[in-house]
Amino acid sequence: MSPARRPARRALRARRGAGARAAARVERASPALALRSWLFVPGDSERKQEKALASAADAVILDLEDSVAAPQLAAARRRVGELLRSVRARGRPQLWVRANAPSSDLLREDLEAVFADGPPDGIVLPKVSGPGELPPVARRLATLEARLGMEPGATRLLIIATETPAGVLSLAQYPTVLGPMTGVRQRIAGLTWGGEDLSTALGALAQREAGGALTFTFQLARTQCLLAAVALGAQAIDGVCTDFRDAARLQHELDAARRDGFSGKLAIHPEQIATINAAFAPTEAEREHARRVVAAFAGAPAAGVVSLDGRMIDRPHLLQAQRILASAQREPDRS
Ligand code: COA
Ligand code: MG
Repeated sequence: MSPARRPARRALRARRGAGARAAARVERASPALALRSWLFVPGDSERKQEKALASAADAVILDLEDSVAAPQLAAARRRVGELLRSVRARGRPQLWVRANAPSSDLLREDLEAVFADGPPDGIVLPKVSGPGELPPVARRLATLEARLGMEPGATRLLIIATETPAGVLSLAQYPTVLGPMTGVRQRIAGLTWGGEDLSTALGALAQREAGGALTFTFQLARTQCLLAAVALGAQAIDGVCTDFRDAARLQHELDAARRDGFSGKLAIHPEQIATINAAFAPTEAEREHARRVVAAFAGAPAAGVVSLDGRMIDRPHLLQAQRILASAQREPDRS
């Protein structure tokens, strides 16, 4: 290591030290730190990257996969590496990189490029066909982290788990396969689903019925993703709304996502971010109800079950109320 690079590495170690470890633990436990909006930006577009960094997205995903044409990949890797180096001292948005699929022969070089000296907060892994593909990626990340003197496990993973038919079928196995592999499991910040590549793989002509509801195949992918993510103790992140000019459609998808238990959503356009961030904040009515549930239990400390407005509430309701109040604690969005 050249002397010139030592201070940068010391700073990096400090950033990835005990504080970051504690933050990672809290992030899993607390919805207050959940990443709500994840904005994709092509790895080779400096202009869009500047705009994405100035947005209120919780995480920006610098893409090296489908939005980058093959001849541009080398330039995109260089650009993403430079960006990560130059904005290391940032806090928010987090900077993630979508690398190429584990089954491609491009992933290793993608990771080398983005870990050159300024590692990302996490890697988004596309076209994952089963949990067995994750341990080799985790080992590779551990090697790169060790090279930079980083805390092992500091680099988190967001898995796009439904882009192949095998991926959808394997989701039920994630908890049993990855449960005992603590090191791999703790890297997983979230699971997300996508319908575009799955459609192509299946030769499906549409993902939705005429009325707008997802067809059964895509509902299955979405639901399996949600269940596997929560079973792993990770965030369930809803997939992209590709009709980025259709505000009503985005809101509809967000209402369904939050209702079902997703805690964030992928975005492809900066104008989607404010709507996404707002959607994952509890409404005033939800907060008020949560406060009353907590107060009802506080007023009856020995009770396992109480009644409120003529309805039974027990421990699951209390936990849900506490989660809503915790997610209301986050800092206000930047404008
Ligand atoms: N991040 C940051 N800035 C973005 C952006 C993004 N994802 N998408 C668009 N912008 C910027 C544009 O550069 C433009 O700014 P400018 O006029 O100052 O250059 C502004 O927002 C308005 O863009 P708009 O004209 O509405 O969209 P577009 O037609 O230029 O681009 C897409 C549409 C879909 C090509 C573009 O939004 C995009 O590249 N999205 C990300 C795609 C991606 O990464 N896909 C992979 C995951 S599915
Ligand atoms: Mg894709």
